[in-house]
Amino acid sequence: VAAAGTSVTIGSRDGQRAQDLAAEIVDAWPGRGLPVTGAENAAAAEADVVVVATPWDSAPATVRGLASNLAGKVVVSMANALVKDGREMLALMPARGSIAAAVQAAAPDAKVAAAFHHLPASELLSLDRSLDADVLVCSDHPDATSATVELANSIEGLRGLDAGSLSQAGAIEAFTAVCITLNIRHRAHSSLRISGL
Ligand SMILES: NC(=O)c1ccc[n+]([C@@H]2O[C@H](COP(=O)([O-])OP(=O)(O)OC[C@H]3O[C@@H](n4cnc5c(N)ncnc54)[C@H](OP(=O)(O)O)[C@@H]3O)[C@@H](O)[C@H]2O)c1
Repeated sequence: VAAAGTSVTIGSRDGQRAQDLAAEIVDAWPGRGLPVTGAENAAAAEADVVVVATPWDSAPATVRGLASNLAGKVVVSMANALVKDGREMLALMPARGSIAAAVQAAAPDAKVAAAFHHLPASELLSLDRSLDADVLVCSDHPDATSATVELANSIEGLRGLDAGSLSQAGAIEAFTAVCITLNIRHRAHSSLRISGL
């Protein structure tokens, strides 16, 4: 997203840690002038679109603490509730059916979309390698779906796809277990592409 010129603020419970990480990312790609800064979570939540990227078991609590900041905003949940079992990744069943539904319940006035579950962070960080993947997006708010599809489309090599209401989030999140297991079994860096669309 930053590589496409969109300003990004990395949030953290510790503002200094976020600033250090932002500087590290900017320095890793000299000459690109990436518009990346760091701040405490509450300041990062001032952004137009807020991506929740904490571990799955802390995503609802993190969002609950920022619920008033997030009212009316598009909030993207990318958390997957997974557990490793040998050479396999297994999906857990979150209490509300998905982490995205729990995030929506934690910030009822936010417009939550679920997206980016199947994309390894390492791929997003490698700006010298082109991506080739679809991003399944679901939400109960049409403007959150379109903003999130647009966000995915702004990243070269990605195609955002409207995959339905937030009720789809459980299946989308759980399928990440299959994607990671495929990579483990085949020692691969595979990505998801939907054909026929
Ligand atoms: N990694 C991937 O390839 C990938 C791909 C798709 C989706 N996801 C999903 O994206 C989310 C983030 O993944 P990740 O690998 O980046 O996770 P991570 O490195 O374990 O955590 C990301 C950040 O969350 C914050 N955090 C950690 N524990 C927290 C807590 N108890 N409360 C509040 N904040 C906490 C930490 O930032 P501070 O300590 O600075 O606050 C940490 O740097 C996960 O839900 C994961 O399922 C990951």
